[in-house]
Amino acid sequence: KSIVVLISGSGSNLQAIIDACSSGFIPAKVTAVIANKADAYGLVRASDAGIATEALSHKAFSNREDYDQALIKTIDAYQPDLVVLAGFMRILTPCFVRHYQGRLLNVHPSLLPKYQGLDTHQRAIDAGDTEHGCSVHFVTEQLDGGPVILQAKVPLFSDDDVTSLAERVHEQEHRIYPLVVRWFCQSRLQQQADQAWLDGNVL
Ligand code: GRF
Repeated sequence: KSIVVLISGSGSNLQAIIDACSSGFIPAKVTAVIANKADAYGLVRASDAGIATEALSHKAFSNREDYDQALIKTIDAYQPDLVVLAGFMRILTPCFVRHYQGRLLNVHPSLLPKYQGLDTHQRAIDAGDTEHGCSVHFVTEQLDGGPVILQAKVPLFSDDDVTSLAERVHEQEHRIYPLVVRWFCQSRLQQQADQAWLDGNVL
């Protein structure tokens, strides 16, 4: 199976997925890593691993539709079975999302449906929550609203700041994202409309 990963930044989740592919935990290959920023550190991780990289800046496009069409073209050149968003900090158009329906995954740093959108760690701290976490979900046209596949919880301590909390959540992302990608590549995971199914059971 072939996976294309989209990133905007550090790419630590990308690294976890690359490592899981090389160890055989995920029965697939990352065939390309695409960033919307040429200086995304994840592109270095990808080329270090011998993976094709592409930087497609949104700045050269006057609207979202045109950018997403160019992105689809770039991705589809690699004929992926699965497209993985790993810190790709752009809202995707309905057209893009529909094109990859059922084979588009994202990781979000909150216990969805709580804290969709940005600044999730700060919002959890401000709300006085005692737990926080991350979610891997299928992407649908609703931003951060697609069916959740797997979540991991972490404790939120009263002396936590965004840095300490983000680090704790990141560790869990690196655990659950490769696991979900593994399930997908083993053909055990499906999206049907607004539901995620694993081994024939609704999640
Ligand atoms: C992660 O916290 C993820 O939940 C969010 O963006 C961050 C990406 O981190 N969507 P990295 O680039 O994988 O290190």
